[in-house]
Amino acid sequence: MQPSNYISSPRTLTHLSLEKISKVYPGRQEWFDHLSRRSSSDFVAIADINLDIAFNTFVSIIGPSGCGKSTLLNLIAGLSQPTSGSILLNGEPVRGPGPDRGIVFQSYALMPWMTVTENIRFAVETVYPKLSLTEQKRIVHEYINLVGLRGSESKHPHELSGGMKQRVGIARALAINPQILLMDEPLGALDALTRGFLQDEIIRIWEQQRKTVVLITHSIEEALLLSDKIAIMTRGPAARIAEVLDVSFPRPRQRESLVQYPGYTELKAKLERHLYQETRVVEESSIRTRIHG
Ligand SMILES: Nc1ncnc2c1ncn2[C@@H]1O[C@H](COP(=O)(O)OP(=O)(O)OP(=O)(O)O)[C@@H](O)[C@H]1O
Ligand SMILES: [Mg+2]
Repeated sequence: MQPSNYISSPRTLTHLSLEKISKVYPGRQEWFDHLSRRSSSDFVAIADINLDIAFNTFVSIIGPSGCGKSTLLNLIAGLSQPTSGSILLNGEPVRGPGPDRGIVFQSYALMPWMTVTENIRFAVETVYPKLSLTEQKRIVHEYINLVGLRGSESKHPHELSGGMKQRVGIARALAINPQILLMDEPLGALDALTRGFLQDEIIRIWEQQRKTVVLITHSIEEALLLSDKIAIMTRGPAARIAEVLDVSFPRPRQRESLVQYPGYTELKAKLERHLYQETRVVEESSIRTRIHG
């Protein structure tokens, strides 16, 4: 029998639900396409994606380059609409972007003319225009501290390192107090040391403020360190989710001891095998295209 709190525990409830999601990017219409209203060069990026994410779960999405991970994240963010299928957030369809979802973009996407403080305050002001200036300042200050940017408040993006810019992105996304944090390869462009350091920061922040997180990453170690679940995508076109793996190592986790947990090596090998196979097919087909035109 399940313990009595099992059913009422928020961890068991679905926060975000993707139901049969497909995304087709329209191609150029030729004259003969007018009859079908579809272009023969339409590109089916992702097809028939189903995924349920429970409250406060950390989910990573991993898959070969170009398979459609950002496409999927942008759909969840409401920045684009699925061609078919539905995305439900707390049971309600997602119709566009909203303050319930904070996004960290791979390319930082900071306003270059604004300081660290101003970049974060801009997001807070936009989402909570009725908050007093004092309260807005308090929130900005709190998140600058949380991501370890104290002392750099008045710097502009061009005066920051990649890791610092990404911290501003994370602070900005968290400062609006979203229910869900969406991160598109936030640490992809960083050197190994800074990356490891920021992974530790993400663990620390997540331990403090459990949220539902969807993280896109290319790094198997990163996914194993941070996630409760890892969704593996197949190669595109028409990419799908091949499998969702449970990562049940105890928390809080430390990178040094992660390899010692039972099952770590097997899980890592499984992910490596999958990524290698999917990536090899993509590479081989691109080599064939280059050779045979
Ligand atoms: N706006 C668009 N119009 C047409 N095709 C697009 C568009 N955006 C993405 N695509 C195509 O959809 C596919 C998936 O792209 P996407 O950026 O989602 O991949 P990804 O998995 O995030 O790749 P990466 O790992 O390199 O970041 C690619 O083939 C890409 O060319
Ligand atoms: Mg991408």
